Amino acid sequence: MSQQQPPLARRFRGVVMPTASHPAIRRIKRQGNYPSIHGNKLWKSSLLLIDYLNRHRPQHCTAVIDVGCGWGISGIWCAKTLGAQVTAVDADPAVFPFLEASAALNKVQVAPRIARFEKLTTAHLAPFDILLAADICFWDELVDPVFNLINRAVRAGVKHILIADPERSPFFEVVQRCQKRHCAELVDWRVRSPIGARGAIMVIENA
Ligand SMILES: C[S@@+](CC[C@H](N)C(=O)[O-])C[C@H]1O[C@@H](n2cnc3c(N)ncnc32)[C@H](O)[C@@H]1O
Repeated sequence: MSQQQPPLARRFRGVVMPTASHPAIRRIKRQGNYPSIHGNKLWKSSLLLIDYLNRHRPQHCTAVIDVGCGWGISGIWCAKTLGAQVTAVDADPAVFPFLEASAALNKVQVAPRIARFEKLTTAHLAPFDILLAADICFWDELVDPVFNLINRAVRAGVKHILIADPERSPFFEVVQRCQKRHCAELVDWRVRSPIGARGAIMVIENA
């Protein structure tokens, strides 16, 4: 009897997501790339963002910045489905070969950028219509850098700011602060098919 092989990739709302078994991913790992700040796989919060954006197509979507991008699938979806110019930012250079492989599978290009949240200034953020992030607030020490990043994005005039999370407590601390300062909305979001995911999305409409 033949053993069933694990899938090499999965599809979600029109994007192809490589799994750990995909030859491109295995090759990158063999070359010694091991992300060290949790950018070691595609996290399910990015599926929440994709599903939400698929249902609520943003009015302004020419230029998108995906911060704490990891393998970058939310930005890749924006490039593929919305035709956006996407910049994918992460502090950890080891994530970028995975981002590049995921983008190539989807036949899109995204611009990689190595930077910490703290180093993205108002001037850096000003060209973007959308700031996206999935699962970037997983330590207490990230609350201030993420909140300050959002403040700069609002000041820079970024029109849509969306941060998805599996509902970790540091994320809720950021949400509370953003509700007070930016009238942020918190939306519970759930995806059932083809992959299950559940969490919350903080949405700031900065019109
Ligand atoms: C849990 S992963 C999520 C990755 C991706 N957004 C996803 O949903 O698959 C968190 C990502 O944030 C990045 N990160 C953590 N702290 C950061 C910081 N201070 N500045 C920029 N990126 C950071 C990590 O390198 C990692 O890729």
